Amino acid sequence: MKATNGNISPKKPASTQKDEVVIHAKGIKVGFVDNEVLKNITFDLKRGENMVVLGKSGSGKSVTIQCIVGLLKPDAGDLTVFGQNVAEMNDDELKQLRMKIGFLFQSGALYDSMTVRENLEFPLTRVLKLNDQQEIDKRVEEVLDGVGLLDAIDKLPSDLSGGMRKRVGLARTLIVKPEIMLYDEPTTGLDPITSREISELILNMQKKYKTSSIIITHDMECARITADRIVVMDDGEYIAEGSYKELQKSDNKMVRSFFNETT
Ligand SMILES: Nc1ncnc2c1ncn2[C@@H]1O[C@H](COP(=O)(O)OP(=O)(O)O)[C@@H](O)[C@H]1O
Ligand SMILES: [Mg+2]
Repeated sequence: MKATNGNISPKKPASTQKDEVVIHAKGIKVGFVDNEVLKNITFDLKRGENMVVLGKSGSGKSVTIQCIVGLLKPDAGDLTVFGQNVAEMNDDELKQLRMKIGFLFQSGALYDSMTVRENLEFPLTRVLKLNDQQEIDKRVEEVLDGVGLLDAIDKLPSDLSGGMRKRVGLARTLIVKPEIMLYDEPTTGLDPITSREISELILNMQKKYKTSSIIITHDMECARITADRIVVMDDGEYIAEGSYKELQKSDNKMVRSFFNETT
């Protein structure tokens, strides 16, 4: 139940909440010795939006994510998350920020000796410091149900397929209800059917939890399923932006190369 907040300022449009920018990047530059990786990255991620980043391997997609969570400092440019400049945050502020951001690692990175239930309890007890077992059980079961794996609750990761492990990894990330999700190549290494399932799950999770997400991929099916908006990266910049359908019609060579791979 959400109260409709009284419009204090009559000038403010009703869509303010929807158009809220959660990540703002302007002119981001990151270089390593003799290697200018990000030259001029500019984008806004809006609340509730799925933004897909397409880019060749080694183009700096993961570096962008490291900047967002403050693991890397840009050499130049502005990067604010929830309105706060990441480069200016102290350790405590970074810790707070990272609690609001979920990652999906390529491997899923589950603890092999723990059951699915225990893997999911871990962030609740260690990160959120919950100790009400009833609340913990409820959240574990709810999130597992969301990824379609309630039946696997007492299994060990080694009893699960790669796709199932990925889904548990996603559930473990979502259980703390992050406001932003960063997916770094979520379907890499999975077969086409499982890739599709994971992509659909990413879309469902966006709808269910209203998270804002950046999805890095070169899987065009994943992009088609999950994206509200796609940006294409080349030589340290975003060179094109649009919906899947819009970009499909592009005559830019780099943009075309992504679409041609799948047709
Ligand atoms: N910590 C680092 N030190 C030096 N070079 C790095 C570092 N991290 C990434 N790079 C380089 O930056 C480039 C982009 O890397 P990355 O963001 O991982 O690419 P991708 O688009 O495949 O995710 C690569 O050339 C990589 O070698
Ligand atoms: Mg990468």
